[in-house]
Amino acid sequence: MVLCAQVERHKAEAVRRRLLDKGMLDGSYVPARDEEFVYFAVKKRAAGFDFAQKKLKKRQEYGKSLEEELAGKLTASELGELVKSFDMIGDIAVVEIPAPLAKKQRLIASAIMKNHRNIRTVAKKTGGTSGEFRIRPVRVIAGARRTRTIYREAGCEFELDLNKTYFSPRLGTERTRIASLVKPGEKVLVPFAGAGPFAIRIAKMQAKANVVGIELNPAAAKYFKSNIKRNRCRNVSAVKGDVARLLPGKLQGKFDRIAMPLPKDGIHFLKNVLPCLKKGGVLHYYAFGSAVEPFAEAEMQVMDAALDRGRHAHLLFRRIVRPYSKTTVQVVIDTKIA
Ligand SMILES: C[S@@+](CC[C@H](N)C(=O)[O-])C[C@H]1O[C@@H](n2cnc3c(N)ncnc32)[C@H](O)[C@@H]1O
Repeated sequence: MVLCAQVERHKAEAVRRRLLDKGMLDGSYVPARDEEFVYFAVKKRAAGFDFAQKKLKKRQEYGKSLEEELAGKLTASELGELVKSFDMIGDIAVVEIPAPLAKKQRLIASAIMKNHRNIRTVAKKTGGTSGEFRIRPVRVIAGARRTRTIYREAGCEFELDLNKTYFSPRLGTERTRIASLVKPGEKVLVPFAGAGPFAIRIAKMQAKANVVGIELNPAAAKYFKSNIKRNRCRNVSAVKGDVARLLPGKLQGKFDRIAMPLPKDGIHFLKNVLPCLKKGGVLHYYAFGSAVEPFAEAEMQVMDAALDRGRHAHLLFRRIVRPYSKTTVQVVIDTKIA
């Protein structure tokens, strides 16, 4: 049994912050919940809180959270500004440092490196994902002065440079989902292939499929080619070039499945990509949608593009891939194009 602060559910976040400020929160246990209360492990009792004894699970993964590590080193208002989550891409942690915390960035980076022994570099985002190559720039603020790394996922390795290629670890679930749908003998096209994560995951999981990836950014295409070698894939080929110029061309009607991981501008390329899909083939279409009505626009875009070519799109599956901003989500819709 562990000594816990017993907090009404609607007050949980506010009380958790008070416990943190007072140095009472014991972050080595996972909080528990029941219908009425949340139970936070605490190191000591203090006036102004209710307490209970509870059986809590020990946290296993890491030691303290970033917020706990920085408690006592940042003021309460600075802790309020802290962006607690960050991406780990290979041995690089990519963090967001809000302007009011600019002078504390070294402190934040040290806290991350202390808790994540595998991290060699901490880089901060210096802008949003932008441009044709969809790159999100970063600047190193601590550790090894490099933005090149090797990211590992499901037995595959991807070498990439964060300042030269797009990459998101948050699409891992999608990569696994698409790869597991591919059947032996399928021909799969991944336009907008980047450094190759979708194409290579598919080729690795389904050795009897044939995968083609197309990528415009020369640096990403170079990594794509070297990642094919690194992962010893013989059933995937990387083409450097512009989807708008290359497709449909000789690839008309060649593919059983196409994944289009270009949520920002995918709509402009449907006219090039759709003709490459065999009758009855499957299209995985990524797009941004409003948080209120996430799928409506993407579904309309695919249906219209299919109709324009005298074809019909039948919805097979759809899901929200991840939240993108307060008002926008990234979605995927799978359609069969008859
Ligand atoms: C959102 S990223 C996805 C990359 C990769 N599939 C991934 O998940 O990591 C989109 C990619 O499409 C590439 N791209 C943009 N326009 C293109 C075009 N016209 N032809 C080929 N590739 C293009 C960008 O350079 C970028 O690497």
